[in-house]
Amino acid sequence: METEPSKAEQLEQLAEKARSCAACPLAQTRSNVVFGEGNPEAPLVFVGEGPGAQEDATGRPFVGRAGKLLDECLAENRMSRKHVYICNVVKCRACVVEGRSVQNRAPRPAEIAACARWLDPQLTIISPLVIVCLGAPSANTLIHSGFRMLAERGQWFTNGRYAPHMTAALHPAYILRQQGAAYEEARQSLVKDIEAARLRVIEARKAPKL
Ligand code: URA
Ligand code: SF4
Repeated sequence: METEPSKAEQLEQLAEKARSCAACPLAQTRSNVVFGEGNPEAPLVFVGEGPGAQEDATGRPFVGRAGKLLDECLAENRMSRKHVYICNVVKCRACVVEGRSVQNRAPRPAEIAACARWLDPQLTIISPLVIVCLGAPSANTLIHSGFRMLAERGQWFTNGRYAPHMTAALHPAYILRQQGAAYEEARQSLVKDIEAARLRVIEARKAPKL
């Protein structure tokens, strides 16, 4: 009997196909498709918004300033990228070009819808116990539309399509735009939301499988 390919092998096959995707206009301005990375066997997955400049240049998720902040908040929970998997709702950078300046922008609903062809099988292969959506575009896509981040972050949503436990946290790029006490408070909320996710994994592992 042939053995099932591992999650890592299945993801690599999917990533290979995604690297030549031209299903939405973001294909025209990207340098690299940023598929996602981390531990495919991890029970905990973070889903962000989309690649920024550094991610586009390297092909790796969350490697810029926002990524550094995410790494710090993981480390404060005694976790690293070895313990989690990280990806985004869109795999190519969304930006506006005005002369020489290039600014990130939020991905459009049509771009998110097109990129579901990758996110859907990606999350299905990993089938984590817990998903943490980073930012509103991710929460809107994976938890429910019209997600109100400031009112609903840290709440738990159960029996989702891709995970039995889902929550949303402030996006690290949003946190970086806050200043002074507001920055400290926002950063602490991400640390706390990651802690809650870590504890939720432990609880979910104890619960009997239905
Ligand atoms: N912001 C995101 O949402 N995703 C990344 O990969 C990097 C920054
Ligand atoms: Fe394809 Fe997604 Fe990139 Fe659009 S953002 S081109 S759907 S990989």
